[in-house]
Amino acid sequence: MSAGSPDKRVLMRNFNRAAAGYDQYAALQMLVLERLLEQLPVFRVQPGTILDAGSGTGRAAKPLGRLYPRATLVQLDIAEAMLKKTEKTRLRWFSKTRRVCADAEAMPLADAAFDMVFSSLMLQWCPRAGVALAECARALRPEGLFLFATMGPLTLFELRESWQQADGQAHVHSFADIHWLGDELVRCGFTQPVLESERVMLTYPDVRAVMLDLRRIGAVNSGSDRRRALTGKNRYRRCLEHYEQFRAGGRLPATFEIIYGHAWRSRQSPANGSQVMRFVSPEHLKGASE
Ligand SMILES: C[S@@+](CC[C@H](N)C(=O)[O-])C[C@H]1O[C@@H](n2cnc3c(N)ncnc32)[C@H](O)[C@@H]1O
Repeated sequence: MSAGSPDKRVLMRNFNRAAAGYDQYAALQMLVLERLLEQLPVFRVQPGTILDAGSGTGRAAKPLGRLYPRATLVQLDIAEAMLKKTEKTRLRWFSKTRRVCADAEAMPLADAAFDMVFSSLMLQWCPRAGVALAECARALRPEGLFLFATMGPLTLFELRESWQQADGQAHVHSFADIHWLGDELVRCGFTQPVLESERVMLTYPDVRAVMLDLRRIGAVNSGSDRRRALTGKNRYRRCLEHYEQFRAGGRLPATFEIIYGHAWRSRQSPANGSQVMRFVSPEHLKGASE
């Protein structure tokens, strides 16, 4: 991802700020999480160690714990406030739990430590999603399961187009497409990748409501090339005008392309495994907690 790639500090700040209201407002994220969790029984696995990468407020913990009681769960997230929101009751099913505040592109976790890596709607926030995928592969034991959901390039195309018309700037992140993800999974050492995508459309009374909803869940533009100056009134007005062309049935749509995928960690190391960069940024580890 180049234009519109998230700046990690801004992203961390946005998610930390959004943590308090996240469970209340992140309805689409809940829907995606539920769909991802529904797939799990099909795989007939009984993981003893599970990593939830980009665990947010820990909403996956309770259903994961019910499916895999007595497993060990590690929740990893770059935003400390998100990790702290995990309610203890969500964790009671597990024999052991650990919270790690770290970047998924440089996880301070041992190689092959997990039987399963689960990740719902985190990858689209990683500027180097390929590095995050390689880290998930590294953390998995051979033949371990990786199950994830992320967002595809059609996501928020109405808003992207409207801003593009208004000021030619990237106000919406660019998202990796399904083909790139499939190739990247294989490059990282996964086998039998299966990916599918669906479109989910939310509707709003106006563009302000679209933007407010995104801000409430921390999904605001944190692109490294975002405009530093305040968005001018004229540009904003032009954006609103352009968005109006999408109005249908009295409501404005906001489209999300959700990509669901799973793959198995291959028995061999990836051919280009040496490209997996290992670095741990101390500032990301400050909040690591047991
Ligand atoms: C949309 S939320 C999803 C949270 C949770 N998985 C859920 O389904 O409710 C995305 C989460 O990914 C985290 N995140 C974003 N980029 C990350 C990164 N590079 N490393 C670790 N976590 C990251 C955010 O802090 C946020 O908590």
